[in-house]
Amino acid sequence: MAAHEPFKFRTLDEIKEKISKLGVDVIVTEDLSPLGKPVAVGGKTAPNAIAVHPMEGCDSNPDGSPSELVERRYLRFASGGAGLLWWEACSVVPEGRANPLQMMMTKENAGKFAGLLKKSNQAAANANGSVHRPVHILQLTHSGRYSRPYTHKMEPIIPQRDPLLDPRVGLDENSPPVTDAYLESLVEHYITASKLALEAGFDGVDIKACNRYLLSELLASRNREGKYGGSFENRVRLLVDIVSEVQKAVKGHGFIVACRFNVFDAHPYPYGFGQDKEDLMRWDGTEPAALVRILCENGVELLSTSAGNPYYIYPHVIRPFDISVNGIPAPNEHPLESIARLFSFTGEMQKTAGNIPVIGTGYTWLRQFIPYFGAANLAAGHCGFVGLGRSGFAYPDAPRDMLAGSMNPKKCCVTCSKCTQIMRDHGRTGCVIRDSGVYGPMYTRAREDSERRAAK
Ligand SMILES: Cc1cc2nc3c(=O)[nH]c(=O)nc-3n(C[C@H](O)[C@H](O)[C@H](O)COP(=O)(O)O)c2cc1C
Ligand code: SF4
Repeated sequence: MAAHEPFKFRTLDEIKEKISKLGVDVIVTEDLSPLGKPVAVGGKTAPNAIAVHPMEGCDSNPDGSPSELVERRYLRFASGGAGLLWWEACSVVPEGRANPLQMMMTKENAGKFAGLLKKSNQAAANANGSVHRPVHILQLTHSGRYSRPYTHKMEPIIPQRDPLLDPRVGLDENSPPVTDAYLESLVEHYITASKLALEAGFDGVDIKACNRYLLSELLASRNREGKYGGSFENRVRLLVDIVSEVQKAVKGHGFIVACRFNVFDAHPYPYGFGQDKEDLMRWDGTEPAALVRILCENGVELLSTSAGNPYYIYPHVIRPFDISVNGIPAPNEHPLESIARLFSFTGEMQKTAGNIPVIGTGYTWLRQFIPYFGAANLAAGHCGFVGLGRSGFAYPDAPRDMLAGSMNPKKCCVTCSKCTQIMRDHGRTGCVIRDSGVYGPMYTRAREDSERRAAK
């Protein structure tokens, strides 16, 4: 592993030189045409191969419906020209919200989502031409261990005991894991939310199993007893049941069932998924590949890879950065090494998934050079879409500029982690640097409030 360093490249040649010095397996091309090619997703077609990752703003209305800030975010994403918008985490039950303002779709508020979808499609057409209509996927979630549904207090719902994570959410050795009956009951909630999403006009739903929220942690619940823990078959059971039951419930509507899942937890074995038994930072793709095969057999038509645990101490495994959030030191690894790991596991998953597109991640740290890496991965069949996370917040027009072959370095995300810091401070989040008029004051307020709470 090489020393961590911030981004400092002015030309593609400089970054290529660093790649060859580090000896990392990352490919680059100057032929950007793969970015503009339409991509088939289930029975739908995305107009290009750029996707916006789900990016939660923690800023819905208390009933879970889109607020003014949510509307602003999705109109900006839609105008930006991406072929696919993966809408942020939307809870299937009130007690599973990660914060009191997390999205949640209900019978009562689904019409507001429908209205925003219509406006988003109009904005996409106005900005990118009348035939441009992105594919819309809604991410359905239960936050499990990281549920904080009502106040500033965590109310964890844990699938397994974990000696490293339990104390961090205020649990002790007497805190029981969630029952099988509760887990079983969730299937119905995912079905209800999926039907509402279909009626609202979404093209599909994501049964989220990433970032160590409930379904993600279940994948690694080797120490859980009963039908959802222990063996691989048991650990994937709930995810597979939800996928197949949702599939049955929406059959015949051309509705896409997708899954964003953690390929690599970077959490010690036996508590981590995709984890080498001895080396925390070494990926073992055996179980993730087996999961991909099962998901595809059960009708999943779109996948997205993710990694790590944003609430733990290795955020670089999913978000390579220049500066981390408060209290997390820079890792002992160059961001290009973290990126190479993200690219390689997406490549492996895409190989396993065959024609089913897999959305790749790990691009934002590369700034204005994203298109050269994204196009190379697409051309090599290492992913089906190039996914943008923080770039979506910082530079919503990035997809259009990528397609035009020139990104503006002054608009790029600088990977400062301030948007994550706001989340940790329980505020509403967005880009503090490139959208500072809106999020600068929110960042300051959230920091002050958090420090005041800590002092108490
Ligand atoms: C503020 C913030 C909110 C996020 N919200 C979500 C989310 O709702 N669902 C999800 O799967 N990932 C979420 N992520 C992770 C991103 O989708 C993405 O995986 C990550 O930022 C890495 O991609 P990037 O390097 O392009 O930023 C979030 C990340 C940040 C920084
Ligand atoms: S605050 Fe803006 S510049 Fe900083 S990491 Fe988030 S999106 Fe990027």
